[in-house]
Order: sequence, then C-alpha cells, then structure tokens
Amino acid sequence: MTNPLREGLATERIPAPCSVVIFGASGDLTKRKLIPALYNLAVSRLMPPGASVVGFARRPKSDDEFRGEQKESVAKFSRRKPLDEAVWNDFASGLFYCQGNYDDAAGYEKLKALLDRIDRERGTRGNRLFYLSVPPSEFAPIVTQLRESGLIAEVKPGKPFTRLVIEKPFGTDLETGEALDRTILSAFDERQVFRIDHYLGKETVQNLLVFRFANSIFEPLWSREHIDQVQITVAEDIGVEGRGSFYEEAGALRDVVQNHLLQVLSLVAMEPPVAFDADSVRDEKTKVVRALRPLRDIEKLTVRGQYSAGTHAGQPVPGYREESSVSPTSRTETYVAIKAHVDNWRWGGVPFYVRAGKRLNKRVTEVSLHFKQVPHALFVGAGVVEPGVLSIRIQPDEGIALKFMSKVPGPVTTLRPVTMDFRYGTSFGDAGPEAYERLILESMLGDATLFARSDEVRAAWEWCTPLLRRWPELGAPEQYPAGSWGPAGADELLHADGRNWRRL
Ligand code: BG6
Repeated sequence: MTNPLREGLATERIPAPCSVVIFGASGDLTKRKLIPALYNLAVSRLMPPGASVVGFARRPKSDDEFRGEQKESVAKFSRRKPLDEAVWNDFASGLFYCQGNYDDAAGYEKLKALLDRIDRERGTRGNRLFYLSVPPSEFAPIVTQLRESGLIAEVKPGKPFTRLVIEKPFGTDLETGEALDRTILSAFDERQVFRIDHYLGKETVQNLLVFRFANSIFEPLWSREHIDQVQITVAEDIGVEGRGSFYEEAGALRDVVQNHLLQVLSLVAMEPPVAFDADSVRDEKTKVVRALRPLRDIEKLTVRGQYSAGTHAGQPVPGYREESSVSPTSRTETYVAIKAHVDNWRWGGVPFYVRAGKRLNKRVTEVSLHFKQVPHALFVGAGVVEPGVLSIRIQPDEGIALKFMSKVPGPVTTLRPVTMDFRYGTSFGDAGPEAYERLILESMLGDATLFARSDEVRAAWEWCTPLLRRWPELGAPEQYPAGSWGPAGADELLHADGRNWRRL
C-alpha cells in the first residue's frame, strides 16, 4: 500500500530490461541483502519487465534448488513480510543458476550461452550487470575471464550496456587499491564501474545533500565563520559477529573509516556541485578528501582502541581477543578516533573530530556541527550559555535537530538549551527502502551519483595509508570495556582542545 504521506513525492524510474549476474551466489550477502533487495524492487514494481537474475558460484545446483534456497532467505530477510507468493513466483521465473569456477573459462561459456538464451526468451536485449559479491582475491580472475569470454561490451550510446558492481574493500591500502583499479580498468571503462559504499544508499545520507542544497537558510552558516568544530560518530554496539578472521586483517580504519565515515564527511564538507549528476557530485566530494590535511603527528592526532570484556544489553560479552578466529595477542583496532582538518577556504581551522568503533555503548551514526560561542556574555548569572548544535542523525531514530538557548518562562532570566526536532518517522512514516534496493536500482539505471569513483577511493587511501604504516610501530591499541564509549585517549584528544565528545 502506498504511504499517503509520500503521495506526490515519488518519481518512478524503471531501468531497461537487463540480466543481473551475481558472482558469489552462495554467499551470505546474496541471501541476506542482494536477493531480498531485488525481490523488494519487484514488489515495488521497479524491476523492468523480463529482468533476470543469474547466480554464479562453484557449487553444482539446479535452477530449482537455487530458487528454493533463495525463497527461504527472502522469507527470512526481506523487510516486507510475509513473502508475496504471486510476486515471488514471477520473480523466481527469472532466477537462474550457473555453476562455474571463477578462473575457468568453461563456466563463462555456459554463462554466455545462458545470458544469450535469457536475451531471446525474456527480452533483456544484451544488457548485463555483473555484481561481484566475492572476496577481493577473486576480482581479478573474474574480470579477466569476463573480458576473455567476450562478455564485456564497450560503452556506446544506444547499445546494450555492461556494468560491473563491486563491494568494498577496494584494496587494503593505497598500493593494493591502485592495483585493483588497474585490474578493473583494464577491462572496463570507469563509467561502467559501480563501487558500492552502502552508506550512500541510506536515505539520511542522501538527505545531507538535500538539507544543505535545497535550503538557503543553513548554507550561509556552513563554514569556519560560524562553525567551531564538527563531530562525526559511527558507533556500533555489536562486536565482530563471527567475522573475526576478516576483521583481524581489516580493523576499524579499513572497515568503516576509509569508506563510510569519509563518505559522510565529504558530503558534510563539500561545496555545492554545479549539477546533481554523478560527476559533478563526485568531483566536489573528491576535492574534500583531497583537502584532508595529511596526518603527520599521528600519535597526537589519532587514537586506537580495542574492546575488552564488558557488557552488551546487560549481558557479559567477551573482549575482542577472545572472539573466535582472533589472535589472543591481536593488535587490531576496533575503535578509531581522529582529529582531522579539511584545508580549504571554507573549513580552514575547523577541526573535524571523527570516531568509529565496535562494541560501544549504543548503535548511532551522527554528524554534529557545533556553532561558535556568542561573542559577548550578555546574560550574566542566567546560566551557562551553550553553543548551538545542529545534529544530523543518520541512524537509528533518523532525523535532524537544532539545539539553541532559550529563556525559561518566569520573572527571572534563566537560560536553558532547547531542541527543535525533525524526525523521519513522524514526517514520512518510515525511513524508506533499504540501502541495497536503492543502490541496485541506481546501478541498473546507470546513475553513478551514489557510488564511489576511483579517484575518490584513491584519495581516501592516500589519507589513511600513513596510519596503517605508523600504528604498528606504536604498540597495542588502548583497551576499552565493551559497552563503554571507547578508550580514555579519545576523550583526551578533545580535552586537549578544551572540547568534549557530544553525549549521544
Ligand atoms: C560494513 C562493515 O561495511 O558496515 C561492518 O563491514 C559494519 O563491520 C557495517 O558493521 C555497518 O553498517 P550499518 O549499515 O549497520 O551502519
């Protein structure tokens, strides 16, 4: 049923018929996110007619077995419950399975024959979207085989499209990130590549652009003239959730800061783009990442933490080093705090304090802009005048709030901070579709605005890589108990500047 509060808001965009090939079809992401997202696009009638999905993986399986497995996953993981049998049956008639090894030409021959058949029978017109939901070590063999089997068509207006969707990690540092790009760009044109950062699929992250550039009242305040500091927090209450071996290699910097957090930072700090199209938006975001001051005094400007045993939802939970597949002497950081600067005219001198961590007190992603203190204290003895704060809550309880000072009613002038609050839930009913739905739809439409571009990813690695080099020389990260707000060093990072982290 359509939400009456959204009436008149939706502009429907339906892509051209195409086949979506998922490499890594037996994986977790496929069953938890990708197939449920594709099914939900079908429920919302946003899938083009004839759209087909091919799962490609190593294990032998029939189409019917694959359909059965995916039906179970959709019933379990879809945001819409219960499963709509009619929509599912229609969706499943376009769901196929292709068995193959990622580095073996034979599987790609089969895939090519299957895609040609789908084109003939379902009218997908040679349009193909290859989705790599596999570990990065498989990217190169797949891209090579796709090229050699003739499955990649050049970009030509009016001709069928071939696109590649990849998931982070886009390398593990500057060098490997560049090597990955060379592999991909040896076979694809940058315009065909869609690098997913699922944060860009979040409604509230997209709303940062609308909030800033569809209103004239905030933008004049959005600079060093009025803003004293910016804070960005990406806090999670969960631990590594059985992904110990992955996390040991990644750590919080690679897992969240290099991508999600820097994406949010660049949307907050960017200049207005000349147009709302992929390159104009990404040009401005990339400029922000390139303007990040290189981190030299790393001991002073960064803090690493690792969670020790503590509590979660009132229950005892183990420390990071006790998690399965984690070394008992691990030095992997599960928390990072950084004092960053965007060295440009708008932001010169304004610190951006950013932090991200696991097993923190609660799950919250928030940006806050802290305004400057008033220049002169007029209301002496009326209470502490706190600087205004504009906070943008990305999740959960999505919304935007402005804190400012007010007079408490009564004969005596007493001041107290109050808040103006906008909540998505109240204004729009719900926070909308899942990030993956939006991103898969955009990649089918060929709009790359919400995807990371290669120079943007490279600039992010350039900024992060010195930390990856220096940290191992600085010993183990500081411990913090699970369920706390992180290591004491992170508080000291702000205290040294006479500031505090915002209480969330
Ligand atoms: C992923 C990370 O990219 O983002 C995870 O690999 C993290 O470790 C997740 O938990 C956070 O995403 P969200 O949407 O829950 O904020």
